[in-house]
Amino acid sequence: MIPKQRDLVSRRLPFEEQAVPSVDPVRYFGVYDDVVRFADMGYKRHVQATPLIRDKCRELILDNEKLKKLMEVCLDNVHRGLKKDTHAQAVVKCFPTYVQALPDGTEVGKFLALDLGGTNFRVLLIELSGEHFEMKSKIFAIPQHIMLGSGEQLFDHIAECLAIFVKEEHVADQKLPLGFTFSFPLEQRGLTKGILVSWTKGFKCSNVVGNDVVQMLDEAIERRGDVQIEVCAILNDTTGTLMSCAWKNHQTRIGLIVGTGSNACYVEKQENAELWQDVDMGSGKVLINLEWGAFGDDGGLDFVRTEYDEDVDKNSINPGKQKTRQTGTGEVYQRGPALRRQRFRHAVRERGRFYTKYVSEIESDPPGVFNNLREICEELGLKHATEQDYINIRFICECISRRSAHLVSAGLAALISTRSGRRRFHPHFHNLMMEKIKELVHPSIEFDLMLSEDGSGRGAALVAAVAARLQKTART
Ligand code: BGC
Repeated sequence: MIPKQRDLVSRRLPFEEQAVPSVDPVRYFGVYDDVVRFADMGYKRHVQATPLIRDKCRELILDNEKLKKLMEVCLDNVHRGLKKDTHAQAVVKCFPTYVQALPDGTEVGKFLALDLGGTNFRVLLIELSGEHFEMKSKIFAIPQHIMLGSGEQLFDHIAECLAIFVKEEHVADQKLPLGFTFSFPLEQRGLTKGILVSWTKGFKCSNVVGNDVVQMLDEAIERRGDVQIEVCAILNDTTGTLMSCAWKNHQTRIGLIVGTGSNACYVEKQENAELWQDVDMGSGKVLINLEWGAFGDDGGLDFVRTEYDEDVDKNSINPGKQKTRQTGTGEVYQRGPALRRQRFRHAVRERGRFYTKYVSEIESDPPGVFNNLREICEELGLKHATEQDYINIRFICECISRRSAHLVSAGLAALISTRSGRRRFHPHFHNLMMEKIKELVHPSIEFDLMLSEDGSGRGAALVAAVAARLQKTART
């Protein structure tokens, strides 16, 4: 008889045991919610990855003891980042943003937003009115030569796309306020002043590090002279995400991004943010941009790092930097335990050929079904992959995704715990995180994770709108 799903879930073994089972291969292979369906299909052949692969994946498994240690190290890093005395040496910088309040639903107006944080960037036109908003947006590419060119070229390109957009939307003659989501480590000196600390995510434009990116954008807009735009806020994508979710649910206190980069921001008391120097506009709070992608750059994460992480780091554009990002996000998929079969060597081991999006596609198939994986193998030129190969590949992907979800969960659990005094395209990331955070935080703490759609763009408009609201209140 097939057990009910609930029984299976409640009897679920800790992952270390699930990953390398001695009996019951069906249970181990199934990804949570599909366990029963998988068993139902009578899919009992070849359900295990081969021993070599399982062995190679062992070090990707993080038990709760390690994750709790990670929570402690993470909190210690956050404290060091917040304190004046330790900030300079701290790797997790905890930059105070100049955002002091969350939206309360009364924000209104028309705003432009720029969202730069990867190989694409978006220009948006957003109209907020109470509980509703309307949004139009256009995606532009940032060609590789611009990502690696000069700062001036980059900002000229952004200003050009902005000009194209406002003309297409017939708002070129209106001086609209613009919120600029710039998702790189920024030391903010004001709501419209942000100094780039370092590039991440494959960008390396010259003459930007150490400079104010708002000023660079203003100058590029001025050089064109064909549009009028007032940049009235600069922010990080985590801030945008938090603002955007808080607009929908006023209880939201933490913003998290897991994508090409990973980072989080949260609401802190101004008195704890020792670098914060601005005037309190009434909330006593300030949003902190953790820049936790750098967590581990001082060796603090070595107890969870593997040979694959070292390999990713060694071959990255900025070796020794952004170790959490590398460990917790996509890149490690490309260097994960590779399949040893000769014909896989070239296709799977060649750097950059196995895209992160493949993982989400592979894991989107129900367990035991390999439709997407078959297509991917064909795309990679692996026409003769066997069912066992599919099982092995999926197993590797699952181990890496799970590790990534658990690492991020430990970081979030650490932030959530102090308060007591994903991924959109990945099919299981949210569930993996909910389950793990529950295990890591005190049972009395209630929390929920909500997916942010268009968070960083809409968030930019919200930051600008909230700032306008606070200024208005301060004046009256
Ligand atoms: C950047 C952060 C950003 C994160 C997510 C990291 O590489 O340094 O500023 O929030 O990516 O996009």
